[in-house]
Amino acid sequence: MSNTHLNQSKVTKNDEYYTRLEDIEKELDHYIPYLKGKKVVCNCDSEASMFWTYLTTNYESLGLKGLTATHYDPNGTYKLDYIKGQTVKTAVSGDGSYNSPTSLAILKEADIVITNPPFSLFRDYIETIKEKDFIVIGSINAVTYGNVFPMFKAGQIRLGHTTLRYYVIPDGTVKNLGSTSWFTTLPVDRQELVLTATYNQTDYPTYSNYPAINVNRVKDIPSDYKGMMGVPVNFLNNHSSSQFKLIDKLNRPKLGEKLIYKRVIIERI
Ligand SMILES: C[S@@+](CC[C@H](N)C(=O)[O-])C[C@H]1O[C@@H](n2cnc3c(N)ncnc32)[C@H](O)[C@@H]1O
Repeated sequence: MSNTHLNQSKVTKNDEYYTRLEDIEKELDHYIPYLKGKKVVCNCDSEASMFWTYLTTNYESLGLKGLTATHYDPNGTYKLDYIKGQTVKTAVSGDGSYNSPTSLAILKEADIVITNPPFSLFRDYIETIKEKDFIVIGSINAVTYGNVFPMFKAGQIRLGHTTLRYYVIPDGTVKNLGSTSWFTTLPVDRQELVLTATYNQTDYPTYSNYPAINVNRVKDIPSDYKGMMGVPVNFLNNHSSSQFKLIDKLNRPKLGEKLIYKRVIIERI
């Protein structure tokens, strides 16, 4: 583990999960046409970040116009610029937080934000970057956050092409964090779901606190039901806007008296 990672781990232990290069490559390769001529900022990244590695390695082939990273460290920090094929490290004032004056000034000049931000600050992080294009990682549960779901509903953002679950932690080992996803403003083409299940009243009861039927698994979405349906949040990994409209989120769905896990409410187009 590098010193940078050691220092970071003292800062915010629970946010110290580093993205693997293979996961970054699998997702970012899909956006190659959208990155040409763009200024990219990674605003939660050290020089050890695999985002920095991917973007500097592929800077020329992606046709990037600029690349800067800022790094959070309350004990003093730096920014990275990629200039003429070299990483240039410059000390900056402040703590390098994504919402610090230095980082906000860099954000203002950028076209697109690409990173894995601290999961614990995801709500505020999205508020900070939402005027820009972005490709960022978050917990799948973040789709129902009060400020995030409306962006999905309005078609401003969507989940990316791949999901990830393995991250490197500060001791250098790999940890399974459960399902995490890419959240992006960029287009994501995906095929419509092939629906094979059929509706019946017994298997698809109506919630006692919302006028929609409950669907327990994405593969159980009935092909012949036209009303509102509550589906698990991971449905958004397969959502095709030509097939389903997003209606709502339901944080505490109830079947009779029984609370079940949160759902998003969808309807066939
Ligand atoms: C999930 S980790 C990902 C790190 C790196 N982007 C990557 O993908 O490997 C989130 C990082 O954000 C850093 N962080 C915590 N608070 C921050 C803040 N306010 N502004 C910027 N970065 C912050 C954490 O120290 C942590 O290293």
